[in-house]
Amino acid sequence: MPPNGTAGPRLLATSDLHVGYPENRELVQGLRPGSASDWLLVAGDVGEFLADIEWALATLSERFATVVWVPGNHDLWTHPREPVPLRGQQRYQHLVEMCRALGVVTPEDPYPVWAGEGGPVVVAPLFVLYDYSFRPAGTASPAEGLSRAYADGVVSRDERWLRPDPFPTLAAWCDDRVAKTERRLAELPPELPTVLVNHFPLVREPTAVMRYPAFAQWCGTVRTADWPVRYHAEVVVYGHLHIPRTTWHDGIRHEEVSLGYPREWRRRAVAPVIPRQILPAPQP
Ligand SMILES: [Fe+2]
Ligand SMILES: [Fe+2]
Repeated sequence: MPPNGTAGPRLLATSDLHVGYPENRELVQGLRPGSASDWLLVAGDVGEFLADIEWALATLSERFATVVWVPGNHDLWTHPREPVPLRGQQRYQHLVEMCRALGVVTPEDPYPVWAGEGGPVVVAPLFVLYDYSFRPAGTASPAEGLSRAYADGVVSRDERWLRPDPFPTLAAWCDDRVAKTERRLAELPPELPTVLVNHFPLVREPTAVMRYPAFAQWCGTVRTADWPVRYHAEVVVYGHLHIPRTTWHDGIRHEEVSLGYPREWRRRAVAPVIPRQILPAPQP
């Protein structure tokens, strides 16, 4: 019997595998489903380079019945050492094509329905980015929030390597993604609950415990705050913060499912849990 007390297939999730680190690659190499019918949600930041991302998703898609991927900021970087110099939306589209060749579900595909225990639920992979609207306290605009962050020396590497092309800014790309995604979510049948999967948290609250609060600017958008309620989420799955935990907002379970960097997971008292069980809901 698979762990966590269930005999049937499970809906599992992980994120921030960052397989460029050999220790993380080894963990992915050893990651196996409990049953051949298990699904795996991969909530972004698989790696920084296309070859690494392809290796990880190919490895996982051979083992799990269904793999669902959403992009993280690192997946979308145009890193100076990346041999394929695609930027912004073109890189995203390239990743979508790579996933399709591997049979991995992306935010551009029809949303699959998990019909196993805890279902039926619509599994909606989302790509909505951030728009600097999680502003630091006491700042009146995204521009002021950003200049405060630069002054404090707390600046995401996205500022160098995450390109918005062909959009003028990341906020404009985010705006386009929010509008497109809202249109698709609004078409869902209201009687079916959802599992919303996004790299960034959909609500701001989980960013409150970050070591550098100003970093929240690179962590989401206020425009998704009511999505979990509006689109009947049973669970919200996300990563990016590298703070794996369960929190509840408006009565809805939010699961941060990241692995994170070896220097982060090695110093914790408990070994990393990848993947995490989403459905059926784990017993407390
Ligand atoms: Fe990450
Ligand atoms: Fe991230």
